[in-house]
Amino acid sequence: MKQVFKIDLFSDTNTNPSQEMRAFMCQAKVGNEVAGEDPTVNHLLERVCDLLGKESATFLPSGTMCNGISYRVLCKRPGDMIILDKSAHPLHKSSGMIAGLAQAVSYPIDGERGIFTASQIEPILVQDKGYNVSVPRVVSIEQTTNFGGGAIWPFETMKDVCELAHKHHAYTHLDGARLLSAVVETGISAKIYSHLFDAVWIDFSKSLGAPMGAVLAGSKDFIEEAWYYKFQQGGGMHQAGILAAGCLYALDHNVQKLKEIHGLAKQLGELLKPFSFFKVKPIESNIICMEVNHPVLDAFDFERLLKEKGIRVFALDKNTIRIIVHLDIKESDIQEVVAAIKIIQKSQ
Ligand SMILES: Cc1ncc(COP(=O)(O)O)c(C=O)c1O
Repeated sequence: MKQVFKIDLFSDTNTNPSQEMRAFMCQAKVGNEVAGEDPTVNHLLERVCDLLGKESATFLPSGTMCNGISYRVLCKRPGDMIILDKSAHPLHKSSGMIAGLAQAVSYPIDGERGIFTASQIEPILVQDKGYNVSVPRVVSIEQTTNFGGGAIWPFETMKDVCELAHKHHAYTHLDGARLLSAVVETGISAKIYSHLFDAVWIDFSKSLGAPMGAVLAGSKDFIEEAWYYKFQQGGGMHQAGILAAGCLYALDHNVQKLKEIHGLAKQLGELLKPFSFFKVKPIESNIICMEVNHPVLDAFDFERLLKEKGIRVFALDKNTIRIIVHLDIKESDIQEVVAAIKIIQKSQ
C-alpha cells in the first residue's frame, strides 16, 4: 500500500475536493457531453470562453490531454517543430506525447526558470526553409512555470515571444495549468494573457481543488478540429457535468484563495532560508524550488527523511527539492515542516 502523507507538498494536483465542492457536484444537471447536451459542461465552457476571451472551448479530463490535443491540431505535418523551454512539463511528464501523439519534434530552449526570450528563439524561427528542415510550427509557453519553480513570465517577454512567433507564422500555445496564479499575482487578466495565444487551457485540478478537469480554448475552427482528436484519444465524455460542477465551484470559491496559498509558500520559503544548506529560489507563486548543499545529505535523503515524518516533498534531482503549497495546506503544516527539518539537522 502506498503511504498516505500527513502533509503532502509533492504537488497541487494532490488537493482533495472539499465537502462543499462535493455537495455542489452532486446537484449538477447532466447530459451527454459528446453531444453538446450537458448543461453544466456548457455553462463551464461559456464561463471559460468569457474568462479567456476565446471563441470556443472544450472540456477535457486533464491538462496533459489539453497539451496533446492542442499540439496535434496546431502541427500540420509529422515532423513539425514545437519550441518550448527545456523544463516544460510536456517534455518530461507526458510519456513522450510530443513525438507519440503530436508527431512533432521538440526544440527545448535553455531558458531561465522556464522563461525564454524572443532573441533566443529568433534564430530557430528565421532558419532557412527547405524540404529537409522541420518547420517551427508552435511556440509553447507555461504560465506559471512548473519545473521552472513557479516563476511568472513577465508580460512583455511573453508578448515579444508571441509576436515574434506570429511574425514567422508559428502558432502560440499557452499551458495555463496555473495561469490563474499568475493572474492573481500580477493583476493582468487571463484575457490579456490569452489574447497573445492561438490556443490556451486552464486546469481546475491544481490549486483550484477540483478532482479533475481542464478546458482548452481557442478559435471556433481550432476547437472543431480539437474535437476530432478528443474523440481519437478517448476524451469524449458523457455525464461529465458532475465534474464540470467541481470546476465551476473552483472558479467561484477557490480562485480567490490563490493569493493566500502563494502567501503561505512565501512564508515557508522565508522559514527555510535560515537553513544554510538550502538555497531557496525566488518564490513568485505556490511553488518553491531550493538547491540542497548539505555536507552529508542530498535532496533524495531529505525527501526520504521527511517522508519518514509523514511529509512529502519532491526531489527533482540530487541537488533540488520542489515543494508545492496548495489549498489543503495550513499554516500549522508549514511550522511542522520547519520543525521536521530542524530535527533532521540535529540528527546529523
Ligand atoms: C505546467 C503543467 N502542464 C501540464 C500538466 C499536466 O496536467 P494534468 O496533470 O492535469 O494532466 C501539469 C501537471 O502538473 C503541469 O504542471
